[in-house]
Order: sequence, then structure tokens, then C-alpha cells
Amino acid sequence: MSAVPTPNSRAIGAEPLPSRIGKCKTVNSNEPLIERVTSPEDVSAVAQLEALCFTNPWTREMLERELRESPVARVYALREQGGEVAAFCSCWIVLDELHVNTIAVAPHRRREGLGTRLMLHVMREAAEAGATRATLEVRASNTAARRLYSSLGFVETAVRQGYYTQPEEDGIILWRGALSRG
Ligand SMILES: CC(C)(COP(=O)(O)OP(=O)(O)OC[C@H]1O[C@@H](n2cnc3c(N)ncnc32)[C@H](O)[C@@H]1OP(=O)(O)O)[C@@H](O)C(=O)NCCC(=O)NCCS
Repeated sequence: MSAVPTPNSRAIGAEPLPSRIGKCKTVNSNEPLIERVTSPEDVSAVAQLEALCFTNPWTREMLERELRESPVARVYALREQGGEVAAFCSCWIVLDELHVNTIAVAPHRRREGLGTRLMLHVMREAAEAGATRATLEVRASNTAARRLYSSLGFVETAVRQGYYTQPEEDGIILWRGALSRG
């Protein structure tokens, strides 16, 4: 993290977070639920989604250890009411900074706005916990994720050469400021 440049919060992500779709925890029956993962069943569901979406996924044991041992780690799961986990996001909230480690939507549920909805929820919760800015890394070839982050006010600030493995690829570093302006 120390190599990451300090963001210029005046220049980055000045848009406030939309309030309508970000708050979707307890709404009408057609709205998805977004909750922090605590149960072993949900950790297993997230691990399955990880394995489906990434070439070097975190295992259930890694996720369990992260949640058990890291006080800054959070994992959020999005599901239809009473249904299966359709998306998840793992992150750290460290003082005034949200670091999004992973977000994934089940392949058959993409392009429905779920990734946007989940990111907005996580950013709002991070802001409530005191975060004022957010950062993440993304594979250079991941057009879908880069467009998603751009639509959420993230700005690409640097490149980490050869950051990813399997396959090796550059990582793009993004920042978004003004998280608390929701
Ligand atoms: C990236 C990902 C999370 C997006 O989730 P999603 O629910 O499909 O995203 P949304 O429906 O909210 O899309 C929001 C915007 O992102 C962009 N986007 C999403 N998928 C896209 C795609 N396949 N191609 C181009 N743009 C795309 C679009 O701008 C889209 O807005 P639009 O649908 O109005 O055009 C999903 O594709 C995914 O799980 N990918 C595999 C895991 C991954 O790469 N995670 C990111 C790791 S850094």
C-alpha cells in the first residue's frame, strides 16, 4: 500500500453517492439483500463464486481466516430475498480508506446492475465507518470492471507492471475520493 500515490481528493470522484439504490438492505421483496457475510454457509457460497470467477481464487479457508483474524476485513454478499448469493465483495476498511479487494457477480447475473448496487452499498457502509476515499486494483484487460469503476467515479492513477499472475498482467490502480458525500 505504501507505493500507492496519495490521491488528490479534489480531482478524484467528486460525485456524491446516489442514495436511492445504495440503501438496499431492507426494502421491498423484489430488491436484493446485501449483508455482511458471517455464516459458514455464506462463506462457502462466496468461495464457490470466487472459484467460478477468478483464475487464482481465494479458498473457503482463506476467506474464513481473513474474516476471523483481520479486524479490518469485511465480506458483503448480495442475494435475492431467500435466494442464492449472486454477488460478493471483499474489502478492508483501514482508518479513512476503503480498499476493495474483490467484487464478482455470478456469470448468469451480470449486466443487471448488481455490481453497481453492491459497490454503492459497500462504499456507503465504508463512509459510515469513517472512510473518505476508496482504492482498488484491476487487471488491465478487465474492460467490464474498468468501466464499472469508472461509472462509479474511480479514476485510474497508476500502473503496477506485472502485478497479476495466472496470467501475468499489469494492474491498474484506481482511486475515488469524497466517499462521505453521499
Ligand atoms: C465486473 C463485474 C463485477 C461487473 O458486474 P455487473 O453486475 O455485470 O455490472 P453492472 O451490471 O452493474 O454494470 C455497470 C457498468 O459496468 C460496465 N460493464 C459491466 N459489464 C460490462 C461488460 N461485460 N462489458 C463492458 N462494460 C461492462 C458498463 O458500463 C455497465 O453499465 P451498463 O450496463 O449501463 O452499460 C462482473 O463483470 C464480474 O463479476 N466480472 C468477473 C469478476 C471480476 O472481474 N471482478 C473485478 C475484479 S477487479
